[in-house]
Amino acid sequence: MTGFDEQDLRLAAAAAIRAPSLHNSQPWQFRLVDGTIEILADTQRQLAVADSGGWAVRIACGAATYNARLALAANGTPATVAVRPERGSDVIARLTPGVARPPTYPEQDLFRAIGHRYSNRRPFWPDPVPTEARAALLEAAREEGAWMDLLVGMTALGGFAQIAQSADRVLRRDFAYQAEMNSWIHADASADGVPVTAGGPVAEPDDLLPQRPYGMHRRGAGRDFEPEPLVAILGTEADHPADQIVAGQALQRVLLTATNAGLASSMISQPIEVPAARDQLRRSLRRHGTPQIAIRLGYGDPGKPSPRRDLDEVLLRPSAEHPRPAR
Ligand SMILES: Cc1cc2nc3c(=O)[nH]c(=O)nc-3n(C[C@H](O)[C@H](O)[C@H](O)COP(=O)(O)O)c2cc1C
Repeated sequence: MTGFDEQDLRLAAAAAIRAPSLHNSQPWQFRLVDGTIEILADTQRQLAVADSGGWAVRIACGAATYNARLALAANGTPATVAVRPERGSDVIARLTPGVARPPTYPEQDLFRAIGHRYSNRRPFWPDPVPTEARAALLEAAREEGAWMDLLVGMTALGGFAQIAQSADRVLRRDFAYQAEMNSWIHADASADGVPVTAGGPVAEPDDLLPQRPYGMHRRGAGRDFEPEPLVAILGTEADHPADQIVAGQALQRVLLTATNAGLASSMISQPIEVPAARDQLRRSLRRHGTPQIAIRLGYGDPGKPSPRRDLDEVLLRPSAEHPRPAR
């Protein structure tokens, strides 16, 4: 194959936009350049308060990159990936066609899972995640160059919960942070942001883990949110921009692996967003590397997916200088 074409670009981008992003901000764009597919950070969609350093944009674009890779592989042309090929540019990854070959079964399975994955913020059932599924999740992170720890037992989970709750309290006291988050929560149909239907029950003071104020429904009085969810912390050895893109790809592979195992998932990032909490979390894990995101996993009633913008809004012409309409 000489190069990717317009059809490959659309196929890759259609899969990529299903990736998760902080508050569903969808900070990505895609273009075809000399037979390669480029995934770019859309810095106009970077959250000024919550994400001034661009960590969340890179996690989201990394996850989008993983989906694009899967779509191309499932279509018979796996890509070689150059992460952040030019320092300082908005290009997150450049995908170059590799040798054509039939997709493997795992690639086909993971590709099919893209359309079924979404954040489920509802309480999970008490059923434990089986050992086999745990092993597959750890393997998924490792295969993408990240590390992941599963918090086993109430002591580890309780320690994480304390760090996450204290980070959440810090963010709740930040009016600019709250105002920015609220601007992404929608009661009506919107192509980005989090619809209230995708939120979990309103947080109660005794809840173990912090909950974003996305939802509106209160749950029955006196009922615990959930007994003991499985929480995973995914991280990388270093914390350069390229590491965060690697973390995003690993996150997506873990989430799709979970989806294939019948598991629901959601993400928790308050303890990553507050530097002191992130450091405390790293020390509690006895890790030298950097935690990049926490994932909550379990079995539960179905939740509601969040919308995406149209493909044509995120595709750039190679020569476009002013890429996108204002939000
Ligand atoms: C970097 C990052 C941080 C996130 N943090 C949280 C979080 O703290 N709480 C939460 O409920 N969802 C979190 N999410 C999930 C997004 O809200 C979610 O992906 C987005 O709303 C799109 O919905 P979907 O995952 O259902 O496709 C995060 C996602 C990313 C990529």
